[in-house]
Amino acid sequence: MKSIYSEHTRNILGLKLPTDPRWVNLAEISLEAVLTDHAYCEQKAATTCISLIQRYPDRELMVQKLSPIVTEEWGHFRAVLAEIQKRGLKLGKQRKDIYVNKLLVFQKKGGSVEDRFLDQLLTMALIEARSCERFKRLSEGMEDAYMRKFYRNFMESEAGHYTLFITLAEHYIDKVTVRKRWQEWLDYEKELMNSMEIRGDRVH
Ligand SMILES: [Fe+2]
Ligand SMILES: [Fe+2]
Repeated sequence: MKSIYSEHTRNILGLKLPTDPRWVNLAEISLEAVLTDHAYCEQKAATTCISLIQRYPDRELMVQKLSPIVTEEWGHFRAVLAEIQKRGLKLGKQRKDIYVNKLLVFQKKGGSVEDRFLDQLLTMALIEARSCERFKRLSEGMEDAYMRKFYRNFMESEAGHYTLFITLAEHYIDKVTVRKRWQEWLDYEKELMNSMEIRGDRVH
């Protein structure tokens, strides 16, 4: 089967601000908190895919592609939960997700259905991209070899997801519009990352 990932999809991704290298060390020393936050990130990824399917049941390719992602994200939640339990740690409460909440502010609230749909897909693409970048940092920088491998698996999976969300956007909306809006999102996210304090107890 021909891959739906277009060549240029890979080239237009590109976060504008790399994660501060100090974050990896902070995350490693607050492992329980970062695992808890990570577990909820996976859970939110699954529920957001479900709500996209509920909202746009007529977008057949999207429904077809996101259905297995729900399972995959839930599998990620379970893998993180298993890691928490194996270590005798606790799944803490969900905290306020400042990063995601501030991204949601940038979504167009008015405008056409297409505009809103595009922003919903691009928000997901961005969260996947940043998560992928963070997992890459952990997979390269953590002291513990087991944890480096643990995060490498997530990194690979989320890389596929951000590509999928961009590809879906380009399937439904013209590519020039998608690219232009994606650049706006990347600029916004850069400013957002710049404005946030570095916290080791959060994935973002
Ligand atoms: Fe995931
Ligand atoms: Fe994902």
